[in-house]
Amino acid sequence: MAPEKVRLTGEKATLLATLYGRALDARSPDPILGDDLAADVVERIDHDFTKTGMNAALAVSVAIRARFIDRWVAEFLATHPEATVLHLGCGLDTRVHRLDPPPTVRWYDVDYPDVIELRRRLFPERPGHRLIGSSVTELRWLEQVPARAPVLVVAEGLLYYLDPGEGRALIRAIVERFPGGQFVFDAVSPLGLRTQKLNRPVRKADAHLVWGIDGPGELLAIHPRLRCLSAVSAFDIEGFDRLPAPHRVAARIAGLLPAVKRAAVFYRLGF
Ligand SMILES: C[S@@+](CC[C@H](N)C(=O)[O-])C[C@H]1O[C@@H](n2cnc3c(N)ncnc32)[C@H](O)[C@@H]1O
Repeated sequence: MAPEKVRLTGEKATLLATLYGRALDARSPDPILGDDLAADVVERIDHDFTKTGMNAALAVSVAIRARFIDRWVAEFLATHPEATVLHLGCGLDTRVHRLDPPPTVRWYDVDYPDVIELRRRLFPERPGHRLIGSSVTELRWLEQVPARAPVLVVAEGLLYYLDPGEGRALIRAIVERFPGGQFVFDAVSPLGLRTQKLNRPVRKADAHLVWGIDGPGELLAIHPRLRCLSAVSAFDIEGFDRLPAPHRVAARIAGLLPAVKRAAVFYRLGF
């Protein structure tokens, strides 16, 4: 098969960095996530991935973030084997392959049309797995999804790229369409937005983070049915000990500052 050429810019190009991060982890001697499919897919794309700004140390952060979210998703699916999963801003993430849900789970991977076309060419099909090519904020895509409960909405590395008003409208539309479920996502605070230039893959992609979320209260104000089940600082998740020494020490020191600790948070909301 001829290698795939990719022409992605801005926030779409950031998916190449996270994919490459998971591939670097898979190829490392002691993988955290062990995403071999990500490593295979990187081999099939004609692209200089070193230009994404991803490196071995950042790959550890990518792998521990993905593993953390995978665990929340697996926990939900273990008790809801008939769930609908909306995996928003999926990029080329292999989450559905890593978690391998039963065919009773209806799993929708959603991203921009050109990203979804690329996915179709790169990944094998699976029963119960569907792809939707649309901006997540053009809400008509939701009509393609039967409004059954429970729904699990997963958005890794997405929310901060959405216009805040459009992001809130998306969350509100999902809460109003489905009888119940959960949202699982990572977010950055306004401080996270102000320091985004420190994030090399974001800088290299010329992407712009525009939605900073200042704690659970701001999310709960979006809809009265929302409640916060978990809010965990990215500095508190398991796996930081796997960072190379200088990064580990820097992360430990930064994590002692409350404002820095709140700069990147994983949220789990119920409704
Ligand atoms: C940092 S990447 C994360 C990709 C994937 N979740 C991962 O962890 O590898 C950001 C993703 O969000 C997608 N994205 C950004 N804004 C979007 C929008 N309005 N609608 C759909 N996808 C969007 C991009 O195309 C890209 O795939």
